[in-house]
Amino acid sequence: MKRILSGIKPTGKPHIGNYFGMMRPAIEWQDKGEAFYFIADYHALTTVFDPVKLREYSRGVALDFLACGLDPAKAVLFRQSDVPAHTELAWLLSCQTPMPMLENAHAYKDHLAKEKTPSHGLFAYPVLMAADILIYDSDVVPVGKDQKQHVEITRDLATKMNGIYGPIFKVPEASILPTVATIPGLDGQKMSKSYDNTIELFLEEKALKKKIMGIVTDSTPVEEPKDPATSSIVALYRFFVPETDVEKMEADFRAGGVGYGDFKKRLFGAIWEYFSSMRIKRAELAADPGYVDAVLKAGAERASSTANQVMERVRKAVGLRG
Ligand code: TYM
Repeated sequence: MKRILSGIKPTGKPHIGNYFGMMRPAIEWQDKGEAFYFIADYHALTTVFDPVKLREYSRGVALDFLACGLDPAKAVLFRQSDVPAHTELAWLLSCQTPMPMLENAHAYKDHLAKEKTPSHGLFAYPVLMAADILIYDSDVVPVGKDQKQHVEITRDLATKMNGIYGPIFKVPEASILPTVATIPGLDGQKMSKSYDNTIELFLEEKALKKKIMGIVTDSTPVEEPKDPATSSIVALYRFFVPETDVEKMEADFRAGGVGYGDFKKRLFGAIWEYFSSMRIKRAELAADPGYVDAVLKAGAERASSTANQVMERVRKAVGLRG
């Protein structure tokens, strides 16, 4: 049976990019193997410095994931920091990680390009991520395209360690669905918190409407034809409706006579409708104050049991035990 693993950082509320790129594929994988999904709170510490917020975001991400269909009876859901062996393995991997490998990592290079001073945590981020994956003997890692390089680093580190110590790690593969590899944001760039162009999954009706109506468009008058190929309204709409509705919107763009406000209203309606049953489920789950904590606690126990076995094998292999 395949072992599936993925993680999401609690740096805010999950958005539509997270949902289509990772959460939905991960939920589909829970029926196809043994799934482990975690809230990457150690990773979030590279950018979230407010302890109250970090706790709140972690619970919120768990609640959103459960509302979207993650079934804790099928998949193990846990907080990364509840399994501290992740950081122990990260150290062992660090000792075999060439600095240039990390100097080439996108996130680090972006940071330097913005003339910010990166922390050691940010620099070492891919090593911790490799540990997250390798400590569960994972076969498959469902992620969006922006995580591809991280999974490649993981594969390189696993192969290197296996070369030195014998076959201690499984070499995992990323699973990136081409249709949802990069979900666009409100401005057409990749949806990302750092670009401030996100649509969170469970916004209030008014807030969602405000975001959608605020999409910047060109000044083509209502009666004139518009280009559907360059519109972020169409680019987003296609994730929420059947192909025929997309074709209808594209045809209305080309025909002219319909204003952008109208198209935005259609997009708003489609998003609101898409998440409606999940929204109800989220409210139900949130009404039980102990539910999320209980799921995370049970998840941490199951995850620890697997992680500790792999860790013991690795400790022995490198000479720390026996
Ligand atoms: P994070 O929290 O940035 O994002 C979580 C997942 O959402 C995907 N994603 C997207 N997919 C498509 N289009 C987008 N616009 C978009 N934005 C985000 C990401 O690709 C990701 O799959 N480093 C990871 C967390 C992590 C992890 C791991 C993942 C830590 N350890 C081990 C897998 C395995 C991250 O920052 O994801």
